[in-house]
Amino acid sequence: MAEIPTWAPLSEEVLADQRAHYDERRRACPVARSPRGVTVLRHADVVAVAQDPATFSSGASVFRSVPNTMDPPEHTAYRSLVDAFFTRERMAALEPEVRRIARAVVAGLGDRTDAVTGLGRRFAVHAQTSWLGWTGQEDRLVRWMSANHDAARSADRGRTAAVAAEFDELVAEQVALRRAAGDDAPDDPTTELLHAVVDGRPLTDAEIVSVLRNWTAGDLGSIAASLGVVVHFLASSPEVQHELRQVALGGQGSAADELAAAVDEMLRIDDPFLVNRRVVTRPAQVGGFDLRPGERVYLNWTSANRDESVFGDPDAYRPTENAAQNLVWGTGVHVCPGRPLATMELVVVLTELLRATRQVVPDPDRRPVRETYPVGGWAHVPVVLRR
Ligand code: HEM
Repeated sequence: MAEIPTWAPLSEEVLADQRAHYDERRRACPVARSPRGVTVLRHADVVAVAQDPATFSSGASVFRSVPNTMDPPEHTAYRSLVDAFFTRERMAALEPEVRRIARAVVAGLGDRTDAVTGLGRRFAVHAQTSWLGWTGQEDRLVRWMSANHDAARSADRGRTAAVAAEFDELVAEQVALRRAAGDDAPDDPTTELLHAVVDGRPLTDAEIVSVLRNWTAGDLGSIAASLGVVVHFLASSPEVQHELRQVALGGQGSAADELAAAVDEMLRIDDPFLVNRRVVTRPAQVGGFDLRPGERVYLNWTSANRDESVFGDPDAYRPTENAAQNLVWGTGVHVCPGRPLATMELVVVLTELLRATRQVVPDPDRRPVRETYPVGGWAHVPVVLRR
């Protein structure tokens, strides 16, 4: 059996253009090894691993995270608890407030802005605090997100633990406020979690914090990063932008579905949600290579979403044709529960941005800057808004 080729995914060379390096690697070999573990690069293998939690466990981290690091059957009960927060009805009820926030953020932007830090972060943090009932905590959350991001990138366990403790404190305050208020506690998802029951007992405080940490990290970072990708794509593809503006202005019943399909396809081409980890539980094979129990595996969504054996030209924008194979939201038991929320938020803010502008074009004086591991997409997307 041939050895898995090695690479250095965090080297400066790879970080300079992660997506292009993943493309190169994927074409050369289905898997690549670094001291951190084995990265799975092709679509079919990523799907196979994600859909086999008995062989590829999500318990790869030393931290227990609800429900992310759990495997079935433990995962199942926690997951249905989480899913109940993202139903179609709940998202519809939330939409008017998210639209109000999107309009206010777009109206407050200057003619020149950064789609990630100007539009994305501002929108994401306000949408998040309004959803969870944490209004007033916006600045603290933005600071935490950036510290969390830096800690994850440093791969320094001490730093990661310190940042996690900081977040626990923020959440613990929110929980304490609601416990003290008793029956007068606000009617929001944070209060609801205090009363949620799994296997006949309430969640522990550690579990509540863990769920909220996943939601916050899932929402804030990924929404801002996704907006960067979407706005960059629109500014670089004036025809698609024109077409989608007509859809947004038309406001037909199917407009939201059409815009959601467009967003999914832009994120497939440049998936900012790079990887998730698994650990091998029994002798296994991936892409024709043997893996031993205990080995750590990275599912590389960004690469799998550009696999030419599935999508042909990975950069060709084909929302309808590519939808069924799109892996932006994952697959298997851990498939993203936050998808309805993320999609609603992205569609609403995209609609309001397109309605409020005649054109969004790249800023001729400032170049976009790529984001780096553990995030993909863009760190900065400077654009000019023509109103
Ligand atoms: C553009 C935005 C988002 C993208 C691209 C995304 C993508 C993903 C992917 C690929 C997974 C699968 C992880 C795995 O297999 O290990 C996942 C899981 C998850 N996502 Fe998202 N997500 C987004 C937004 C959100 C939001 C807004 C929330 C919640 C508010 C959220 C909460 C979660 C949680 C809790 C899991 C773990 C589910 C489980 O283990 O069963 N995500 N997400």
